[in-house]
Amino acid sequence: MTRFFEPLLTSRYGIHESWKLANAEKAGAYRVAREALTARKPAELKEEVKKANLRGRGGAGFPAGVKWGFLNPQEGDQVYLVINADESEPGTFKDRSIMDLDPHRLLEGAIISCFAIDAHVAYIYVRGELAFSAARLEAAIAEAKQAGYLGQRPFGIEHPIDIHVHLGAGAYICGEETALLNSLEGRRGEPRLKPPFPAVKGVFGMPTIVNNVESIASVPDIIEMGGDAWASLSRLPGDGGVRIYGVSGHVKNPGLYEAPVGITMRELIEDYAGGMLRDRPLKAVIPGGSSTPLLDPRRKVHAPNPDHPLHQWDGMSEIDVPMGVDTYRALGTMLGTCCAIVMDDTVSMVEACRNLMRFYKHESCGQCTPCREGCGWLVDVLDNLCAGRGKHEDVDLLVNIANNMMGNTICAFADGTAMPMLGMVQKFREEFMDAALNGIPDSVRHDESVRSLVEVQA
Ligand SMILES: Cc1cc2nc3c(=O)[nH]c(=O)nc-3n(C[C@H](O)[C@H](O)[C@H](O)COP(=O)(O)O)c2cc1C
Repeated sequence: MTRFFEPLLTSRYGIHESWKLANAEKAGAYRVAREALTARKPAELKEEVKKANLRGRGGAGFPAGVKWGFLNPQEGDQVYLVINADESEPGTFKDRSIMDLDPHRLLEGAIISCFAIDAHVAYIYVRGELAFSAARLEAAIAEAKQAGYLGQRPFGIEHPIDIHVHLGAGAYICGEETALLNSLEGRRGEPRLKPPFPAVKGVFGMPTIVNNVESIASVPDIIEMGGDAWASLSRLPGDGGVRIYGVSGHVKNPGLYEAPVGITMRELIEDYAGGMLRDRPLKAVIPGGSSTPLLDPRRKVHAPNPDHPLHQWDGMSEIDVPMGVDTYRALGTMLGTCCAIVMDDTVSMVEACRNLMRFYKHESCGQCTPCREGCGWLVDVLDNLCAGRGKHEDVDLLVNIANNMMGNTICAFADGTAMPMLGMVQKFREEFMDAALNGIPDSVRHDESVRSLVEVQA
């Protein structure tokens, strides 16, 4: 039985007009920033973030404290903080909740982070479609300035801090941190070759820390509780704290749930999201946004020796492995943004795959040939399979194309396309083979599942 968690990150979501400074402040906003800026040293704050084992919430799971440690500004350098609010990964909808419902938590985290890394300017790069979130942030920034928490002397100290909101134009690739930096500079949103990494040479050629919205919004709690205490809220070592889990698809209560790092997918679906819609069987779940290979509840963990990182879950279903950056990597998938897409037995895996690949084809920036061409070829082959014009060899062709995209491009977009593609074929190969012969029967089953979701919402 799950012990439900007293929320931290989302604790102010329910209060009246939580996005307004007066209400947020009554519930504790800016208390930690005031104390951090007036009574603590930047090095101490950085140390707490390191101890917290905060793994980046934007998808790659890199430890924030380690990233901050890469900064080594030279004489005349200006350090920047860039907050990634591009949130365009299909299935992912957590960051916008922070911006919409508690923008002051993000600003408080940004102020503490700027002070800790010696930055005076932060940019929040917001996905173009999220105009509402951007407006909430702009209003919150104006209030924080007025109150003296931002500007020339935040909380009365000599460390000017300005925060700017920058709206993108709605391109998924601009969530990739170096494409984002190009876009912020007014250039075409194409990823940069790395190295140099942003911490060395980022926006305007200056040392830059890029962190996700949820990562930065976690900083006030880390500083308030202390890194060790915050880390120990997690059920997993080396992957600290709490996070916002998203669930969409065929569950009774889709939505966002804050919980400790390390709950299992089964707990998320059954205990938090109320179980499967209409009590149908779970067919598969995409665990952390569309770029992460899916989990198949029928599959058992294979961890043959005691040194294997998943040894203690050997023989259990994939959905019973705790959700963490390292555990999911060992499972052959990724935790990504931690927003799950749940599919019941009415879903055609081939059709779901085609749907996803159409997204990637549309969003590839086209800079690297394997990605630009590969995404289009995957869709062509899948179109044929779904229409009953395919051949059995097409299934291996999908695998071949995806394998040739992996690792052959400037950024991780191509890997994020190929990996879920390969996972679907590997785990549901018989369905793809069947489609090669018979096509998808008018997507009837798929239509039914969509209808049932609409009915429930109505
Ligand atoms: C194609 C692509 C899209 C991405 N989109 C986002 C995004 O929307 N938001 C985000 O925070 N990170 C996104 N990332 C990850 C960022 O490149 C980067 O790792 C992250 O912003 C770092 O912050 P974190 O360490 O706090 O997670 C994306 C990466 C790729 C390859």
